Amino acid sequence: MSKREKINIPIEEINKQKEAIARVREKNDFDMQRSGKQKLAIIITYGCQQNENDSERLRGMLRDMGYSFTEDREEADLILYNTCCVRENAELKVFGNIGALKHLKARKPHLLIGICGCMMQQEHIVEQIKKKYKHVDMVFGTHTLYKFPETLEKAMNEAYTVIDVMNTDGYIVEDIPIHREGTVKAWVSIMYGCNNFCSYCIVPYVRGRERSRNPKDVISEVSQLVAEGYKEITLLGQNVNSYGNDLEADIDFADLLQMVNDIEGVKRIRFMTSHPKDISDKLIDVMNKCKHVCEQLHLPFQAGSNNVLELMNRKYTREKYLEIIRKVKQAIPDVALTSDIIVGFPGETNEDFEGTLDIIKQVEFDSLFTFIYSPRKGTPAEKMDDVLSKKEKQANFQKLLDIQNEISLKKNQQYLGKNVEVLVEGYSKNNPDMLTGRTRTGKIINFSGNEELIGTFINVLVEDVQTWSLTGRHVKEDI
Ligand code: SAH
Ligand code: SF4
Ligand code: F3S
Repeated sequence: MSKREKINIPIEEINKQKEAIARVREKNDFDMQRSGKQKLAIIITYGCQQNENDSERLRGMLRDMGYSFTEDREEADLILYNTCCVRENAELKVFGNIGALKHLKARKPHLLIGICGCMMQQEHIVEQIKKKYKHVDMVFGTHTLYKFPETLEKAMNEAYTVIDVMNTDGYIVEDIPIHREGTVKAWVSIMYGCNNFCSYCIVPYVRGRERSRNPKDVISEVSQLVAEGYKEITLLGQNVNSYGNDLEADIDFADLLQMVNDIEGVKRIRFMTSHPKDISDKLIDVMNKCKHVCEQLHLPFQAGSNNVLELMNRKYTREKYLEIIRKVKQAIPDVALTSDIIVGFPGETNEDFEGTLDIIKQVEFDSLFTFIYSPRKGTPAEKMDDVLSKKEKQANFQKLLDIQNEISLKKNQQYLGKNVEVLVEGYSKNNPDMLTGRTRTGKIINFSGNEELIGTFINVLVEDVQTWSLTGRHVKEDI
């Protein structure tokens, strides 16, 4: 038996879920005939794209079990929270929301409430739910997501809280139904889990070890998406640069990216996230050569001092990071760069923090995702001591935002007066009269136009810029 066959889930397991889907569907169809009302579900998703992608799978299973979807908790028959635990505030929000549902459940006893995702992979959280949130009907983790049909069926029939959490590494499960969020852009997970154990991070504990999908499964999913008319594909993984390390076949992420680029009809490809320690010259070269790979790189550096990087167990230095950036800019001059940064890591001094500001000024990122350090139970950093007070951390955080906002605006100003290729995504949420889309470099751009443009590539002349987006005019020489 090959390594792969051991990791991919046995077919009998999948068939068991298919049977559960059929039984729940039958029950829901029967209820619907009696009441004349379709069953409605709502999934509330926190966290990263991995979780968004998982929610698309949950939605796929729900659709096959006869559910439609609603945005309104009051009219829902099933409310599911797909949770994140990367920072404490994500967890607090979930507890607040679940607590608030107690009254709704008391008024509507047939309402089913479920909680799943990363938070549920932590024992102390499941214990807390069992004790304090008895109105929850089902709890399941990231590794048992594929068993949702069985779990739901049990929850429909039992009065107690059904719990299905597995602590060992998950399998790779192909063939879970999917109901995607949109029709223009799609996420494709190429691997699951993380092996890096950055000292602050909970992800390796709740997502398990790295498991790469078989390249042929990735290619077939992308080909299918292209055939369905999707225009932009984002390849997902916690650290895509280590794709393939666990596969028998001699393949790395650069090879996979090249293979996806070569799929007939593919238009735009993005990927995230890259870890600086694993980024190769080969990958930079493939990014440069491949026509459909967008000029964009998200490369988290987290902190700008070597002392803090070592405490974080990041396995690169600020010099190595800057060297990678230099190479990327040289190979792809119009590349847009983004990064993740943690402010206030234990042990970080004001001098260390100056190192972070220095990198930001040197690199001039297009935008940043910035976080104040949040201690996570069970991680090594939880036991490390702070040098700076909460107030000092907050002041540094604000300083960083102010500097970055100026840089983001300056970067956007370079687009003024230029024609850019835009993939039109839909109407703008903040400005519903306008359409919105993204440039190849990932910039949000708003402009006037009619509905037929959604899902097409057009030329937009950039006429105005803001810190977070561009505004333009559709110019007719379409692409
Ligand atoms: N695998 C990705 C992203 C993981 S989580 C990567 O390595 O880049 C997304 C971001 O959340 C991280 O990059 C980090 O900046 C932030 N993060 C993770 N744990 C955190 C913590 N305990 N406190 C604050 N920010 C954290
Ligand atoms: Fe967390 Fe580090 Fe893994 Fe990213 S690479 S998920 S930050 S442990
Ligand atoms: Fe959060 Fe889990 Fe993603 S902890 S950031 S949802 S992998």
